[in-house]
Amino acid sequence: MIRPGTPNDAPTLTALARAAKASWGYPDAWLRAWEPELTITAEYIQRHTVFVAESEGCVVGMISIEDGVDGPEIGHLWVDPASQRAGWGRRLLDTAIRHATSNHWTALRILSDPNAVPFYTRFGAVHVADVPAPVAGVDRSLPLLRLSIGG
Ligand SMILES: CC(C)(COP(=O)(O)OP(=O)(O)OC[C@H]1O[C@@H](n2cnc3c(N)ncnc32)[C@H](O)[C@@H]1OP(=O)(O)O)[C@@H](O)C(=O)NCCC(=O)NCCS
Repeated sequence: MIRPGTPNDAPTLTALARAAKASWGYPDAWLRAWEPELTITAEYIQRHTVFVAESEGCVVGMISIEDGVDGPEIGHLWVDPASQRAGWGRRLLDTAIRHATSNHWTALRILSDPNAVPFYTRFGAVHVADVPAPVAGVDRSLPLLRLSIGG
């Protein structure tokens, strides 16, 4: 099932975010450098739209939508490594798309992990730019995607 996030979910969602990010095999130094952005606080959950996926009482995924200056954007999308490729990412993104539709938004922005691009393109997201995102002294960029809502 998918339910709204609550402030009490913060520690569980932080652990989920870190485990999901690590599933791509990034170096430990990069994962340590990303810890601040992989921390989901109670305040974050109160400020933004957060949906949590649960299976048999366990949290297996989450998605958040932030009110960005350039429009609404996916802030976090994480599926627990043991539950990936079982349709949870699709269910969570579908939930975000329904939320966007009900708010009459025309698009969602996604600053994507490069490894997740094939997942988003399955839903029609298109690559619109590359955004510099150096980590631990290494030059790196992230693909910025745009997912049109309602065609
Ligand atoms: C990306 C992520 C959210 C996908 O979630 P998931 O639950 O594994 O994906 P689903 O099982 O719902 O897959 C939905 C579709 O996308 C495809 N897909 C999922 N991951 C894919 C990948 N890495 N490469 C290519 N296709 C992928 C599936 O095959 C499926 O296609 P189908 O409709 O033809 O069956 C998940 O792998 C994850 O959390 N990754 C690590 C963290 C991350 O990078 N998050 C995104 C940050 S921007």
